[in-house]
Amino acid sequence: MIYLDNAATTLHKPQQVIDAVVAALQSMGNSARGAHAGSLTAARTIYDAREKLAALFRCGRADRVVFTANATEALNIAIHGAIPPGAHVVTTDLEHNSVLRPLYRREAEEGLSLSFVPADRQGRVDTADFARLIREDTRAIVCTHASNLTGNPVDIAAVGRIARANGLLFIVDASQTAGSLPIDMESMNIDILCFTGHKGLLGPQGTGGLCLGERAAVRPWKTGGTGVQTYSKTQPEQLPVRLEAGTLNGHGIAGLSAAVDYLRSVGLETIRSHEEALTRRFYEGVSRIPGVTVYGDFSVRARAPIVTLNLGDYDSGQVADELSERYGIATRPGAHCAPRMHAALGTVEQGAVRFSFSFFTTEEEIDTAIRAVRELAEE
Ligand code: ALA
Repeated sequence: MIYLDNAATTLHKPQQVIDAVVAALQSMGNSARGAHAGSLTAARTIYDAREKLAALFRCGRADRVVFTANATEALNIAIHGAIPPGAHVVTTDLEHNSVLRPLYRREAEEGLSLSFVPADRQGRVDTADFARLIREDTRAIVCTHASNLTGNPVDIAAVGRIARANGLLFIVDASQTAGSLPIDMESMNIDILCFTGHKGLLGPQGTGGLCLGERAAVRPWKTGGTGVQTYSKTQPEQLPVRLEAGTLNGHGIAGLSAAVDYLRSVGLETIRSHEEALTRRFYEGVSRIPGVTVYGDFSVRARAPIVTLNLGDYDSGQVADELSERYGIATRPGAHCAPRMHAALGTVEQGAVRFSFSFFTTEEEIDTAIRAVRELAEE
């Protein structure tokens, strides 16, 4: 199989990630639930992972790195726990349902009001629109770092400056960029960064989290056992346990920790430039084929490694099936949980076929995929 569905999850993981998960399965007790060797192994491994992620994202403090099952859980914690009822929130058409659905639910149930920075037909947003949409009752900006459909980035540093200048909480969804693009919470004025472990970070599924800046106060979304302050009726105040009720995915976090080691040993810049070169090669190959429509703005080079297209008016699901069955190429068709983005691109009915790359994708795989698209377009 030629695996080009890395925006959904990276399938090829570094060997050291696999080894770390196996070692954790063989050695870990429950973190913070005892003082025996197994429990301490888990606690140390998990704390190490917090330190590495805090350094990677410039979060400042390891105890403000909170683990969750995925970015969706992190975004739910942030959106439910950090935005006051009745507030106005600025967000964008680029968002995934993991941002939209929690916001829509709070709009329906708690009177949140929402304004959307519009995307144009190429899936671009104008940074000035964030400032234009701010009102007196605006309390937060919630925004993806890059669209999971087009790969187009948002200028997070510029939006962060707008948020800070207006005293707004800035929540960023880094699902498609963590591990692929640089993220610096301090210089970008990010208050809450939500990430997943199983995409560009090359870790296991079931890992993710949120990193909290000094200004972020978050009410727990779930409550329960933490291994500390058992006799208190309420969730402990201290981070990270305040937001981590229940046993953590220690085995997965061990793998994520090894994945961050791998990214650092290869170098984020090496990874970024490889993914950028692959994306450019594929884009240039397919965009010249008659009948192919590519979505997104490829004048921006620092983008998520994604190219999404359609062939004439063929249904995207049919195209993805042909790619899989005839060429062994894995892609993701359909709506990609990004309803407003498809509406902006005019692809609600047809959907689109998303090709997404990783550090482990090769040039040969890109060229095979270009040939496959050409042959299908010629039929
Ligand atoms: N959010 C993931 C995607 O875009 C699953 O495919």
